[in-house]
Amino acid sequence: MSVESILKNAFRPGYFPVLTTKIWTRIVEVRLHHDRVRAKTWCHENAVDVTTFTTIKDPNLWKESLEYASVLGSEAEIKLRHLDVELGGGGFVELVYFLTRLLRPTIIVETGVAAGFTTQVILEALSRNGSGYLYSSDFPYFRLRDPEKYIGVLVDDSLKSRWELLTRGDRENLKNITEHIDHIDIFHYDSDKSYRGRAIALDIVKNYLKPGSVLIMDDIDDNLYFRDFVYHLKCKYYVFPCKQKYVGLAFI
Ligand SMILES: C[S@@+](CC[C@H](N)C(=O)[O-])C[C@H]1O[C@@H](n2cnc3c(N)ncnc32)[C@H](O)[C@@H]1O
Repeated sequence: MSVESILKNAFRPGYFPVLTTKIWTRIVEVRLHHDRVRAKTWCHENAVDVTTFTTIKDPNLWKESLEYASVLGSEAEIKLRHLDVELGGGGFVELVYFLTRLLRPTIIVETGVAAGFTTQVILEALSRNGSGYLYSSDFPYFRLRDPEKYIGVLVDDSLKSRWELLTRGDRENLKNITEHIDHIDIFHYDSDKSYRGRAIALDIVKNYLKPGSVLIMDDIDDNLYFRDFVYHLKCKYYVFPCKQKYVGLAFI
């Protein structure tokens, strides 16, 4: 569109708000794209191989984690095939299982459940540990009928005694959860991937993350939130490639 036609149209009734919204949207899009490129570059430059990290810590446990993830993958395929909806999801399940077994946490909080891949591996790992409890936060997929019945469909009934699921969105759920706990050993973030969404969640839980707690964050290449978080806290962190994306692990 030429400058001339913009100026000509700008004074038509109702056109100015449309134009400013368009310009604003474009500015936001360019900014988001720029941030994504910078985040991807940062992740690429900081990435380390997950196998190196896990085998130094405990090679047998990493083997167990890979085996369990493979079993879950096959079982999930069968269970999800019978649902006629696309739920998506599936975080870095091997790593989440590995850390849950390794660190033997008493309290885990996760955001983003969907079908429940990470929920299932956490609960399985807690069950094998013989201790620990998981709080999960999600909100229903509004595009589905009876959306709540799909959240966590992969979770075995036998593991649910260690689990509480809240479905009113992170802002409300996390406030609610933190009223009932005094710390979080592992915080797994896999819900609203925007910078703002991550900041809102971490703001609510940050006082519950103590020295020794860990944060696992999915899709950290979407924006620079994870980088800013670890730089601000000056904590030890790892960036792992996962399915053409990146997962961040921070030791508080
Ligand atoms: C990528 S999926 C989670 C995948 C899951 N961790 C797994 O391994 O199967 C993201 C989920 O986050 C949820 N979500 C998105 N924004 C949210 C918010 N603000 N509060 C709570 N849940 C949210 C979506 O409903 C969706 O179920």
